Amino acid sequence: MRVLVGPDTDDLAELYAVPRTPWLRVNMVATVDGAATGETGTSGSINNAVDHQVFHQLRAMADAIVVGAGTARAEAYGPAGTPLVLVSRRGDVPEGLRDAPRGSVLLATCSAAEGLDAARDLLGPEQVLVLGSHRVDLPLLKQVLADRGWGHVLCEGGPHLLRDLLASGVADELCTTVVPRLVAGEHPRITQGPPVDVPLRLHLLLEAEGTLLGRWLTASPMGQ
Ligand SMILES: NC(=O)c1ccc[n+]([C@@H]2O[C@H](COP(=O)([O-])OP(=O)(O)OC[C@H]3O[C@@H](n4cnc5c(N)ncnc54)[C@H](OP(=O)(O)O)[C@@H]3O)[C@@H](O)[C@H]2O)c1
Repeated sequence: MRVLVGPDTDDLAELYAVPRTPWLRVNMVATVDGAATGETGTSGSINNAVDHQVFHQLRAMADAIVVGAGTARAEAYGPAGTPLVLVSRRGDVPEGLRDAPRGSVLLATCSAAEGLDAARDLLGPEQVLVLGSHRVDLPLLKQVLADRGWGHVLCEGGPHLLRDLLASGVADELCTTVVPRLVAGEHPRITQGPPVDVPLRLHLLLEAEGTLLGRWLTASPMGQ
């Protein structure tokens, strides 16, 4: 792996160290033509070995993983070995997380969620975070996780959740993998939803066999 921009080290833990907590980073992969999924409709059909390496490195460094319910459903998420925080407005716990060991999966949802009672039964009431009435308050989520001792949070998408994190100014960092492929077709980008305009500052750029891995810092008040 070659460092194109950033500190001259081949130690991934050092390269991806976070400067402080609370810190929320999002990790996403896309093709050169901007597709966030491939032929199977998941990121599993576009990512590659070096993306896997960084994906697992980022998981190993995080105190908690946050994921949107759409991604957890599409990518058949199971328990992660690190606390997994599912974000769902409806309060719907995907199949693969229903039998997770108590405490390993949390749900961030809102009081109007139709699945609230069922989620409390499945996950345990203390694992269900009600953060708002009709929408999940994402800045509050970051604060609540920090209060639990989970200051370093990794979000694994998906595109709608990333858009909302950017719109609410709580994402400190976006890690991107650009794989050297073109796929055309109909695929989401790594952000989906109403427009946002978030300037980014390139902090690190790695290259491995044509794959580009970047650390982009947001200019939001929390990402300065
Ligand atoms: N390329 C990549 O790196 C990458 C990463 C992740 C996912 N993906 C792909 O993206 C696709 C899924 O896209 P997606 O946009 O549907 O994923 P998503 O953002 O994970 O899921 C959307 C769902 O998550 C919940 N959600 C998202 N933002 C929320 C918010 N602010 N408040 C409350 N709930 C929120 C809602 O769940 P409820 O409907 O339950 O209320 C919403 O319907 C899949 O094909 C997946 O493979 C790609």
